[in-house]
Amino acid sequence: MDNARLIPSAQNLQPLKYYIVDYDKRESVFPYLKWAGYLTDWNGPVEGERPAAYIIILSDTEISKNVKYDHGIAAQTILLGAVSKEMGGCIIATVNRDALVQTLQIPSQYTIELVIALGHPKENVIIKEIDKNGDIKYYRDNEGNHYVPKRKLDDIIITR
Ligand SMILES: Cc1cc2nc3c(=O)[nH]c(=O)nc-3n(C[C@H](O)[C@H](O)[C@H](O)COP(=O)(O)O)c2cc1C
Repeated sequence: MDNARLIPSAQNLQPLKYYIVDYDKRESVFPYLKWAGYLTDWNGPVEGERPAAYIIILSDTEISKNVKYDHGIAAQTILLGAVSKEMGGCIIATVNRDALVQTLQIPSQYTIELVIALGHPKENVIIKEIDKNGDIKYYRDNEGNHYVPKRKLDDIIITR
């Protein structure tokens, strides 16, 4: 969290606030998250493999009503910090915000921007180059490997 405190912020407004959901409250968040949309036969992690904690990134509307980018920077900063401590995580934007606000009694001054799920990874993440068919969908095998296609360097740079 202290890394997130130091991130760059447009106009240095620092409109983000954080709701830390620790181990005891974790089950109250899980039902309101949508996991891995491309894995259509998977409803998210089963009990026992679910995130140990969450950080809910909120914007404080009394500071800014138009937080365009800061939450993305905050999310990646938190994840890098987690990985440096041998944890893993996932940024989740598909959130039932109304239900989560109600469940956690989050004051109306705050808007949920993103949820960060944190825990100790169960799977290996393997980066693949996107092949000729251009498919960007991630997929899994039965040995605990999660494959993530990424575009080639030449395909993301438009001038040389
Ligand atoms: C802004 C943003 C929103 C995301 N929302 C979700 C989500 O709602 N549910 C989910 O399971 N993953 C979500 N993800 C995770 C992406 O699916 C993941 O980053 C992508 O598949 C690439 O995998 P990688 O992060 O392992 O490289 C989100 C990622 C970002 C950056």
